[in-house]
Amino acid sequence: MDERWEQLNTHIQVCARCALAQGITNKVPGQGNRNARLMIIGEGPGADEDASGLAFVGKAGQLLTRMLAAIDLAREDVFIANVVKCRPPGNRAPLPEEVATCLPFLREQTRLIRPQVILLLGASALKVVLGPDKRITRCRGQWTESKGVFILPTFHPAALLRDPAKKKDAWADLQAVRDKLAELPFKGA
Ligand code: URA
Repeated sequence: MDERWEQLNTHIQVCARCALAQGITNKVPGQGNRNARLMIIGEGPGADEDASGLAFVGKAGQLLTRMLAAIDLAREDVFIANVVKCRPPGNRAPLPEEVATCLPFLREQTRLIRPQVILLLGASALKVVLGPDKRITRCRGQWTESKGVFILPTFHPAALLRDPAKKKDAWADLQAVRDKLAELPFKGA
């Protein structure tokens, strides 16, 4: 298992399969508990993440940390990754071809972690996991089960910072994650 993680992270670090790799400071593979019950998928690194090589460490990441704490989860308990591992210029959303090129990395992460629950943050994560025609405003808060994995889309924390009125729904979604984890049997190592 460790070997597969090492291989994966090396592949991410050397990847230059799309133009996003050109303008960056650091790759941001994602980090956290490799045996996590909960995997969280965001969109792509921003400036703080690009500077540090770590996912969700800027303002949106700090909000995510507080939201997790509110359901008694520490960052170390979960695995946090992004759809793309390189920062899109000017924080634009990743293009469909960039997402498609990067997708094997996210797939391998998901295979290695074997999460019981996946929380999708925002439209990019929703579309790549559940389908390109999905809309976050329609799908948030609705569970999908796929191969025994429970998947829940919610608003991206950056959207909550822009529009605090969305926080009420996001809090309901976080509580639903907490309840789902409580319901499911503990996962073997
Ligand atoms: N937004 C994301 O989608 N991912 C990060 O890592 C940071 C901000």
